[in-house]
Parts: sequence; C-alpha cells; structure tokens
Amino acid sequence: MPRKKISVIGAGNVGATLAQRLAELELADVVMLDIPQTEGMPKGKALDILESAPVYGVDVRVTGTTAYEDTAGSDLAVITAGLPRKPGMSRDDLLNTNAGIVKNVTEQTAKFSPNAVLIVVSNPLDAMCHVALKTSGFPKHRVIGMAGVLDSARMASFIAEATQTSVEDVRTLVLGGHGDTMVPLPRYCTVAGVPITEILKKEQVDAILKRTAEGGAEIVKLLKTGSAYYAPSASVAAMVESILKDKKRVLPCAAYLQGEYGIQDLFVGVPVKLGERGIEQIIQLNLTVEERIALQKSADAVKELVEALRRQKIAG
Ligand code: NAI
Ligand code: 2OP
Repeated sequence: MPRKKISVIGAGNVGATLAQRLAELELADVVMLDIPQTEGMPKGKALDILESAPVYGVDVRVTGTTAYEDTAGSDLAVITAGLPRKPGMSRDDLLNTNAGIVKNVTEQTAKFSPNAVLIVVSNPLDAMCHVALKTSGFPKHRVIGMAGVLDSARMASFIAEATQTSVEDVRTLVLGGHGDTMVPLPRYCTVAGVPITEILKKEQVDAILKRTAEGGAEIVKLLKTGSAYYAPSASVAAMVESILKDKKRVLPCAAYLQGEYGIQDLFVGVPVKLGERGIEQIIQLNLTVEERIALQKSADAVKELVEALRRQKIAG
C-alpha cells in the first residue's frame, strides 16, 4: 500500500516541529510548504528532518517546497501559516492578517488536495476554521481545529505537578473557543478516575483553571519573539495519528456545530471522535447550567470574530 501523504502549510515553528514529529512517528510522507520569499527555508528544514530518519529507523519522505503542485493528492493537510502573537497581543489581534493568509492557503490546498482532511492551527483558531470551511467548500467533518488537545494537555501537566502523579493517569477536558473564555471542566478532570475536585483544594483547582486559560500567554511572555510550538505540534500529531490510523480517539477539537450544545453555525471546541473520515461523531456531554452558560459565552466570543470577518467579506 502506498504511504499516506500529509502537507504542512507554513514551515515556521509549529509547522517544522510538526513535520519532525510526523516523520518520527512514521505516519506518512510529509511535504512542508512556505511562501516563495522564504526561498530555501522549507527545503532546508525538510532535508534536515529527512537526514534524521536513519537515526530513528523510519522510512518516510520529507520534502520542502513553495509550490502547491507538490502538495497534490494529500490525504491530510495542516494549516499552520500565519503570524504568531507577540507579548501584549491577544490571539484576536491576528484576525485580519491571518484570515487573508488562511483564505489564500486554503484555496490552494483544497484545489490540489480536494479529498484531504484539513486541520487548522492558525489563530484566532475558531475563526480561522470558519474561513477554511467556507473557502474550501469541504464537508464540515473534514475541517477540524486544533486547540482543545493543547489546552487539555497544559491542564494535565499542571494537575500532574500539583498532585505529584504521573501524567499518564491524568485525564482533562477543555471545551469552548481557543481564547480567554475557554471552558476547562474540572468535573471531567481526573487522576486515576478520581475527579480533581475531590483531590485538590478549591484554591488549587481555581489556580489550575486560570493558568490553563492563560497557558498560551504564559509561553509568549517567556519567549518574547513568538508563541508555543512544542506542545501545539505534539497535539496536532495526536490528531493526525487518530485520523490516519483510524483509531477513533475521542479528543476535544474545534468542530462546526449546527445545533449541538445549542450552538449554531460556529466552530467551538467539543469532544469529537476522530477517524479516517475526520470528525466521525460529535460527543454531546450533559453539561450543568453553569458549564452551558460558560460554553455559550465562549461561543459568543467566536461569533463576534466571525461577524467581523463577514463585515469585511472575508468569510461567508
Ligand atoms: P511562525 O511565524 O514560526 O510560522 C508561520 C509560518 O507561516 C512562517 O514560516 C511564514 O512564512 C508562513 N506563512 C505566512 N504566510 C504564508 C502563506 N501565505 N503561505 C504559506 N506560508 C505562510 O509561527 P508559528 O509559531 O509556527 O505559528 C503559526 C500559527 O499557529 C500562528 O497563527 C499561531 O498563533 C498559531 N498557533 C495556534 C495554536 C493553537 O493552539 N491553535 C498553537 C500554536 C500556534
Ligand atoms: C497557544 O495557545 C499560540 O494559541 C497558541 O499557545
């Protein structure tokens, strides 16, 4: 059977780290694309990753390019093109610039890989998913946003630290848009099956919720020149693996909701089943009134951005 093909659009920090992870997992051949002005950069990074393959004993082709023809026939494409934020910026400050970039790269990617599953990473995440869905014309199960896996992983690492337990025994769940209004659900966060609300003091839980919601900004403040990419690329790789191996993992991802959770025509983070067709099921949790209100507030924040894009005729 021929190997699967993944295109990574944007060969910056997230894109290149992701390409490296995908190669090390031997999931597929990887094509990494960036703008022509970057000249040899995507080719150089791809060659460097390829030359690590013998060390890991993995048989994959990794190539870099600035031409969309080289991405043709991809099974899956990950959009990481766009600006990252700098200290003091919110993800929403990137709206207009990144919407133009995501529109352009989605048009080209969809043209050359009409059957691909699209995973969107560029920020502001939920609004960029909307741009990718409307621009590609793909069915909604083939356009998925990465955020919940990252936010949940951040939360899990803080819980493991606070409880001095293995990350392997920690399960977490963060729903909502990928922004300040994200909705970590402590009721669904457990250590070896026991909810954290029974293990940690309320102040400790509250501190973890706050640190999770501010997790991206914490890294930006430390790095100063850009945003996180190790945990983000690991999170995308987990989604890619579930799709290409048809594992049907249940992961929190941005999905286009049409009535689920009472939310209409918006991308919002919810638990979904990921298999070879992309999103194979949206899992509906029984939320408490407070949780439902928090999710609605988060959806309203996404709606504001989508409406701003509509006013500028960037997204339908
Ligand atoms: P970066 O600046 O390191 O890389 C972005 C790359 O995109 C650059 O190489 C740039 O040349 C390329 N690019 C720009 N316009 C392009 C175009 N039209 N076509 C192809 N490539 C183009 O940024 P980084 O750190 O890789 O982040 C990328 C995006 O992902 C940012 O918007 C960032 O906010 C977002 N992000 C989202 C996360 C999430 O949880 N959803 C997590 C981490 C980053
Ligand atoms: C993050 O949460 C930048 O959205 C990205 O790190």
